[in-house]
Amino acid sequence: MKGLVLSGGKGTRLRPITYTSAKQLVPVANKPVLFRVIESIRDAGVEEIGIVIGDTGDEIRNAVGDGHRWGVRIEYIPQDEPLGLAHAVKIARPFLGDDRFVMFLGDNCLQGGISNLIEHFQNSQYDAQVVLKRVINPQQYGVAELDQDGRIMRLTEKPRQPRSDLALVGIYMFDNSIWEAVDSIQPSWRGELEITEALQWLIEHGRQVYPFVHDGWWIDTGKKDDMLEANRLVLEEMTPVVEGYVDRDSHLIGKVIIEKGAEIINSTIRGPAIIGENTRIVNAYIGPFTSIYHHCTIDSSEIEHSIVLEHCTIRDLPHRLEDSLIGRHNEITRSPLKPKAYRLMLGDHSTVGVL
Ligand code: DAU
Repeated sequence: MKGLVLSGGKGTRLRPITYTSAKQLVPVANKPVLFRVIESIRDAGVEEIGIVIGDTGDEIRNAVGDGHRWGVRIEYIPQDEPLGLAHAVKIARPFLGDDRFVMFLGDNCLQGGISNLIEHFQNSQYDAQVVLKRVINPQQYGVAELDQDGRIMRLTEKPRQPRSDLALVGIYMFDNSIWEAVDSIQPSWRGELEITEALQWLIEHGRQVYPFVHDGWWIDTGKKDDMLEANRLVLEEMTPVVEGYVDRDSHLIGKVIIEKGAEIINSTIRGPAIIGENTRIVNAYIGPFTSIYHHCTIDSSEIEHSIVLEHCTIRDLPHRLEDSLIGRHNEITRSPLKPKAYRLMLGDHSTVGVL
């Protein structure tokens, strides 16, 4: 069994963060989503992993390397343009050969890993297996309709009027019958070769596609609020540990993780929360569901339900920062300049909410 991770694409919904960095490398609880994906595949016993990369390929190669850190072998498969999930599968054929494989979208986060899914597929005669999850907004996903016996009747990509609430999770398992399917389909209305249509082709040609309904949580981390939600869910499952320095005037309440080299001075941190390596929290309040990545300074400010990426400085804020995703190397401070005014230098497609 091999692994195929899709980490190409443009990440337009996470702009401006994705102007300068790959969306799959945005951290959830201080670990890039893509690293979580690789760990889930490794934990399921799969050691050969191909990663499909696009425009942000160099950054992904630099961050991930050859995989030895996780005890796996990683090969990169460049995709010139994001022409669809089935197109990504097609170009990975030399890497995958005739092996069965699991495909995992590099921006998906799934509770409980995939070991049980892989075991179920490996012990079966199914040609493919998909993972389904009941959602309240199925029109944003691929959607499956099942018959009375629980078999898949139809799969539709982002239907305007969904006929079920079962969304396709970004984890798929295939045998070599997928090759004929991806060669037979045509680009969709959005110009992509859709994996949903390749699966539909398998069903219509008498292949067995098993629908595995997942009970735990699942997040497609495509947008800011999804990232915050994934961050919340992952933080809730983590074990508290203090590896940095916490002074006597500080209070850690609930599940709090302080990574190596971090310093907490005269501050309160109410978990679940994580403070990254070499980050300084001084005279500050960090509230629940917050991840501060490495090499940040949070001074005389309050932050809650937010993700702050590396090398940020946040100082002297008069109001609490909430529900925010702050990119790398940002500085947010109170300005002493007169007249009193907001002074901003924002990247394209930024969103700011002021009082
Ligand atoms: O997350 C689950 C959903 O993923 C499914 O419900 C849908 O059926 C499926 O089509 C897919 O929809 P998205 O619109 O969310 O896919 P997105 O374009 O965000 O791409 C998912 C990942 O695959 C992302 O990490 C980028 C990568 N990708 C995407 C395309 C289109 C590639 O590597 N190459 C590509 O050509």
